[in-house]
Amino acid sequence: MLILGGTAEAAALAEQLVARGDIVVVTSLAGRTAHPVLPAGEVRIGGFGGAAGLAAYIREKGITRLIDATHPFARRISENAIQAAAETGITLEHMVRPGWECQRGDRWQEVSSLEEAARILPPGATVFLALGRQYLDAFVARSDCRFVIRMVDAPAEPLPFVDHVLILGKPSADPVREAELFAAHGITHLVCRNSGGAAGYGKIVAAREMGLPVIIIGR
Ligand SMILES: NC(=O)c1ccc[n+]([C@@H]2O[C@H](COP(=O)([O-])OP(=O)(O)OC[C@H]3O[C@@H](n4cnc5c(N)ncnc54)[C@H](OP(=O)(O)O)[C@@H]3O)[C@@H](O)[C@H]2O)c1
Repeated sequence: MLILGGTAEAAALAEQLVARGDIVVVTSLAGRTAHPVLPAGEVRIGGFGGAAGLAAYIREKGITRLIDATHPFARRISENAIQAAAETGITLEHMVRPGWECQRGDRWQEVSSLEEAARILPPGATVFLALGRQYLDAFVARSDCRFVIRMVDAPAEPLPFVDHVLILGKPSADPVREAELFAAHGITHLVCRNSGGAAGYGKIVAAREMGLPVIIIGR
């Protein structure tokens, strides 16, 4: 069984399946982070080389079942999984975690793109960007805002923002820790994607409790 991973849910699934003892479980990671937490079972790291490469891997390793448990915003790998499963004739399952729902007290402004999120920020805002490093470009031109940017690993090149603070680390599921971070940096706006899941929900609860506006990019 091949799990396309990179999420907490994929790691939990690998652990469950490995514990059964009757399935060979391989988890595939893209290799985006320098020190990933390795899931149970076998792990391979790095791209396959498109849908054709994934299909070739499936054939070569004798994979009989494919589970796409990647992040809901990782669209290319999910498209590749559909194509590769069709090409090889194996079963594909897609684990899609539900998005977060706006609740009482949330001050969400839902947008459909990074560009729209960047456009609607008010001048002078201090913005917490909870986005991966490949999603930051749209905000660079907003030199009238201050950005607090969190990423897992340090970027290879300095970030091109006029006014920014870089925080290295993963999101916390604990709203108290996220609220402390927002308060320490004088955050006025949170920008994030509607990723769903427990691991990233701390920031949403923290924003709710602090009454902070959240610009949230839909799926
Ligand atoms: N997007 C996010 O915000 C986010 C957040 C948390 C975790 N992740 C995880 O990080 C990984 C990369 O995300 P992305 O948004 O860059 O994906 P993406 O845009 O859908 O994928 C880009 C390319 O990266 C490779 N790739 C992606 N996931 C892979 C996997 N699990 N195993 C092997 N190769 C993979 C594939 O390369 P080839 O075409 O060469 O095979 C794919 O075409 C995903 O596995 C995802 O679960 C993403």
